Amino acid sequence: MNLDAEHVPLSLYVHFPWCVRKCPYCDFNSHALRDALPEQSYLDALLLDLDEEFAHVRGRPITSIFFGGGTPSLVSPRAIGTVIDFVAARAALDADAEITLEANPGASDRARFGGYREAGVNRLSIGVQSFNNRLLTQIGRIHDARQARAAVEGARDAGFTDLNIDLMFGLPGQTRADAAADIEAAVALSPEHLSYYQLTLEPNTLFHEKPPVLPDEEEIFAMHEYGLERLRGKGLFRYEVSAFSRSGHESRHNRNYWEFGDYIGAGAGAHGKLTAAGRVTRYTKPRHPREYMGRGERFRSSETMVGDEELVFEFMLGALRLTEGFTLSTFHARTGIDPGSIEPRLAPLIEARLLRRAGERVRATERGYLYLNEILEELLPPRRDVPAQSEGAA
Ligand SMILES: C[S@@+](CC[C@H](N)C(=O)[O-])C[C@H]1O[C@@H](n2cnc3c(N)ncnc32)[C@H](O)[C@@H]1O
Ligand code: SF4
Repeated sequence: MNLDAEHVPLSLYVHFPWCVRKCPYCDFNSHALRDALPEQSYLDALLLDLDEEFAHVRGRPITSIFFGGGTPSLVSPRAIGTVIDFVAARAALDADAEITLEANPGASDRARFGGYREAGVNRLSIGVQSFNNRLLTQIGRIHDARQARAAVEGARDAGFTDLNIDLMFGLPGQTRADAAADIEAAVALSPEHLSYYQLTLEPNTLFHEKPPVLPDEEEIFAMHEYGLERLRGKGLFRYEVSAFSRSGHESRHNRNYWEFGDYIGAGAGAHGKLTAAGRVTRYTKPRHPREYMGRGERFRSSETMVGDEELVFEFMLGALRLTEGFTLSTFHARTGIDPGSIEPRLAPLIEARLLRRAGERVRATERGYLYLNEILEELLPPRRDVPAQSEGAA
């Protein structure tokens, strides 16, 4: 094992676990807000949590911060500013760090966006999902298409030059024409980044319990194909399974997950991954906001060392999602494992033209990209215990 934290980039994820209402498809750690937001108590806990975390990463530069949720746009710019200032004062925050905040069009406005910008946020990720009011109602969103457009315009007015729009397809009752209209509406707003997710029915959600009727597979495939082509035509290039961007506007934060970088996870239910003393450790924070806020100290609720087999699998899980794949030297730098030891596992996949190797770069072929799960099955360790990607996307 030859693993040096100095060569592993570090980012910070901060979770806010409240929403105005719980969407029926959502399995993120988010709770409908019944009373007033306990902003100050949560902020107090967050700063203690961060202070503990910084002790583990002393001197390591933080390249990005992602405020995810839940709905971080329910939180005041003052509180967001306090967190950013705290990180800058107590840790080594890069001067040009990417700092993203997720906003829900039904819980945000221009003035707020201006406040976030002044606080140091330089990228907004807006959860639009669709521009079709009938579909927005179907999926239980709290906003309509007019508010979605107003949020994007408000973000521009506030001076944001790095915007992501989250869009979903394969929605209940959605036709190909509906999906095409959503793509057109999104590109008309000229976002720098777009995340295009197929709706999935996740366990422990209302939609899983009472599944709505979804478009059939063929329809969904056609929606996706259309989206891919239109986005490419509009200069939004696919660099990950669900992520599209103009050149130079990839999400640095999410790219770090996919490249198996390190990240601190702060806030209720957040999890982190850190390299130290030649090992990779994963940890989680208490999921329930009340438990989290009552903690006071020792915020990590579980901690596990990632074994070599899991390291291989987890690395591949993210890296193969990137259209450019990975290099064998990055594999070595992030896992400490000799790349020669995985070559026998990659060889049959290259032979089957699911993966392609050029020099030391390995990536999925166009066909392989359609069979990522099958490829990962082949790379699976004998026993598996893999946590989900960190909460928060794009
Ligand atoms: C934490 S949410 C984004 C911010 C904010 N909470 C909102 O919804 O506006 C992250 C994104 O994941 C996507 N997402 C959530 N649940 C999903 C599901 N079951 N299937 C597909 N995409 C999903 C949505 O596009 C959502 O905007
Ligand atoms: S999709 Fe976003 S707004 Fe809806 S419940 Fe999940 S985190 Fe909250």
